[in-house]
Amino acid sequence: MKVISGIQPSGKIHLGNYFGAVKQHIQLQEAHECFYFIADYHALTSQRDPAALRQASDDIALDYMALGLDKATLYRQSDVPEVQELAWLLNCVTPVGLMQRAPAFKEKVEAGLSANMGLFSYPILMAADILMLGADVVPVGKDQLPHIDIAQDIAASFNAAFKSDVLKRPEPLLGPIPKVPGTDGQKMSKSYGNTIDVFASPAVIKRQVMSIITDSRPVGGPGKWGSDNVSAILDLFVSETERKLYQADLEVNGVGYGLLKAAIIEKHEQLFRNAARRREFLQDEPLVVQETLYEGARRVRKIARETLARVRSVVGLPTTWRVS
Ligand code: ADP
Ligand code: TRP
Repeated sequence: MKVISGIQPSGKIHLGNYFGAVKQHIQLQEAHECFYFIADYHALTSQRDPAALRQASDDIALDYMALGLDKATLYRQSDVPEVQELAWLLNCVTPVGLMQRAPAFKEKVEAGLSANMGLFSYPILMAADILMLGADVVPVGKDQLPHIDIAQDIAASFNAAFKSDVLKRPEPLLGPIPKVPGTDGQKMSKSYGNTIDVFASPAVIKRQVMSIITDSRPVGGPGKWGSDNVSAILDLFVSETERKLYQADLEVNGVGYGLLKAAIIEKHEQLFRNAARRREFLQDEPLVVQETLYEGARRVRKIARETLARVRSVVGLPTTWRVS
């Protein structure tokens, strides 16, 4: 099975990214051919700070490698410019109405914000990322499902328009935790400022965990596991047995949220301790990361050129680049 997914370099990865997508990405590499990329072209739909874009791209690569990505192909989207050519060819078969209904664009427009053309056609570039490699499945969080639907529609439109079967229909793959709650109970997201980072100093993690908004349960009164933001976040980290213990603490013994927050901090430290060490090591070895991205892009460009040659042939463009 061929697997592909991308993550935008728009800030530090948080528990929503990890439990919603990255953890599954890393598990999948054990049994499948996996491709993961840093979606820097996509980030430019909103990013206007070149240094921040470079930094965030490097950070995502470090994060993935530190968390154990070693068998999958990791690359930077912009190192494979062929994807832009495929995106153009897909633009030419995509109905405008399909983009107008896309959630990211609709939300901006409904909020009264001005959307640029990059944001408008964002799902087409995403379809190109996926279809270029002929992916079977795309592991993502729930928020990305509409985009995978669009990629399926675009593949079908293209194949129908050119009476071919050159583009393969991708299927989404939802992780076991499709929507990780943030410190305020909404979906955890960089854009809501309600995140708990995966890699940050103990002081920052502590501050973020302590900022989880709690309900006003009377002191010593019973709670209900999973119904408040603290236990919902602690739930991400615990085994079945541990869950039963913490659940009894909350529902029978009426323990306070302070203790559960302390448990989150401890579990966070345990889960990411080794990765944090690896990240520090890799940070001092920038060539290792750059070499990984270079090798990844080289492998992907080869596949990309093969796909493009087939697609070019189907639409009636020359299949070799006559001018170099
Ligand atoms: P953000 O919303 O913070 O900008 P991204 O859009 O960059 O996050 O998401 C990167 C990946 O992480 C996507 O596959 C997305 O579905 C997943 N993801 C992000 N936030 C969550 C969340 N709160 N719960 C589950 N998955 C998430
Ligand atoms: N849109 C995705 C996000 O914001 C990132 C992305 C870009 C992606 N291209 C992709 C995800 C292709 C999966 C497949 O998280």
